[in-house]
Amino acid sequence: MTSRKKRAKPESPKARNNLLKARVHSFFVCAECGADTPKWAGQCPACAKWNTLTEKTASRPSSRGPGSGAPRRLTEFSSAVTRLADLKASDVRRRPTGIGEFDRILGGGLVPGSLVLLGGPPGIGKSTLMLQAADRLAAPDFPVLYVSGEESPEQVRSRSVRIGAENPSLLFASETDLEKILDAVRETKPRALVVDSVQTVHKAELGGAPGAVTQIRECAAELLHLAKGEGLGVFLLGHVTKDGDLAGPRVLEHMVDTVLYFETEREDVHRVLRAIKNRFGPTNEIGVFEMTAKGLAEVTNPSALFLGEREGPAPAGTSVLAALEGTRPLMVEIQALVVRTLFGMPRRQVSGVDYNRASLLIAVLDRRCGFHLDSQDVYVKATGGIDVREPASDLAVCAAVASAVTDRPLPPRTVWLGEVGLGGELRSVPQVTERLTEAAKLGFTKAMVPASALRGRAAPAGINVQAFGSLSDALRAVGLAPGGN
Ligand code: TYD
Ligand code: MG
Repeated sequence: MTSRKKRAKPESPKARNNLLKARVHSFFVCAECGADTPKWAGQCPACAKWNTLTEKTASRPSSRGPGSGAPRRLTEFSSAVTRLADLKASDVRRRPTGIGEFDRILGGGLVPGSLVLLGGPPGIGKSTLMLQAADRLAAPDFPVLYVSGEESPEQVRSRSVRIGAENPSLLFASETDLEKILDAVRETKPRALVVDSVQTVHKAELGGAPGAVTQIRECAAELLHLAKGEGLGVFLLGHVTKDGDLAGPRVLEHMVDTVLYFETEREDVHRVLRAIKNRFGPTNEIGVFEMTAKGLAEVTNPSALFLGEREGPAPAGTSVLAALEGTRPLMVEIQALVVRTLFGMPRRQVSGVDYNRASLLIAVLDRRCGFHLDSQDVYVKATGGIDVREPASDLAVCAAVASAVTDRPLPPRTVWLGEVGLGGELRSVPQVTERLTEAAKLGFTKAMVPASALRGRAAPAGINVQAFGSLSDALRAVGLAPGGN
């Protein structure tokens, strides 16, 4: 009661000002990198750019933080709070694009009200894939608006002619101003929107160049609001380089529902698109495409692609991994080359497998299995441009390196899978049956797996499964023992 009396007293303008100051504090935000700092400076302390700091104000959090005071009864909460168990779960109704490999990584199709980030290096095929998907998605009751800030209408039209995108329900706008894009959406009321690319969109009042972190973040936040409010499916295209360009579209990863990245290089004919995050479907799922003269075509049997093209028996240093990408088992060829180190430090160079993991496996082969690799350069590669980073690839990498260093080929039609521990022991991996079933289907007749892999379950028909407790046992079983190098 006493406090209320106090607050009712007429306040002097000075006292009111002080009260306001206590509630609102100001800080400075960099228009380039988004970092904030309490004091103004000519140069941003985070990214070292000049004249990028602008003042922002925010209200201070109340001193009555969570947990202070007695707990309140549920009936006292505002209408925004309800019991989770009382909420109705919505069935996600997806709209398939009709491009099987794209639908697979979306988790079955486009979810209304979702925000999808499609990233990759320039020239990989983002605009091509999105134009194809937009053309397939569009229908009289499902108009799709494609906004390009990157290319002129003529350029986009010539691409659409090339890929045969002639759907009358596919609308186009060449625009970079966010307000105008939002106006276009209000006017045309599309059910799906493509923004190509998020780096070209800007909001005038924010300051900073298009593509700056604050611009990307704010524009994406408004598009997110639009997507959730209107039930509109939004695709944001963004350039992301392979060496992890941190500033740029990656700042959106936490905000969007789905993140898809092209992981192959532009030079490869085929393109692998991977779901890094998906709130509406499985993650790590991949879609495989081939760039043709008429746009991206689906590759329905990717194992054939990753197994390499060879006639006759495999040379030494080649093994086949029964990998699992998302929910799909894939056979991937692993190649290794071992050559004597000429100067100083031995080199370890990898492509398509994890560098640290490969270095660790080389050390295990050296220390636990007796293969002398400390004065040898080792090169390891997963063919076909795919990235295999799962621990299940350990055994196949070790087999390829051991085969290369002894110059003895591995037995034909054999797949390898298993994690290798630092002690040289083999550990089980998930979904062994699915991997082996796919291997058998593709004509493999033998599988080398960890002892605990099948856990009493029967092996799929047509494949002879050999289980081992340690890496050296598995290698010895195929005639690989130190001494050949
Ligand atoms: P693009 O979709 O423009 O790449 P991004 O939007 O990721 O920058 O296309 C990239 C490349 O694909 C370009 O070099 C041309 C080639 N391409 C084809 O080979 N066939 C086609 O049908 C199309 C449309 C493009
Ligand atoms: Mg493009």
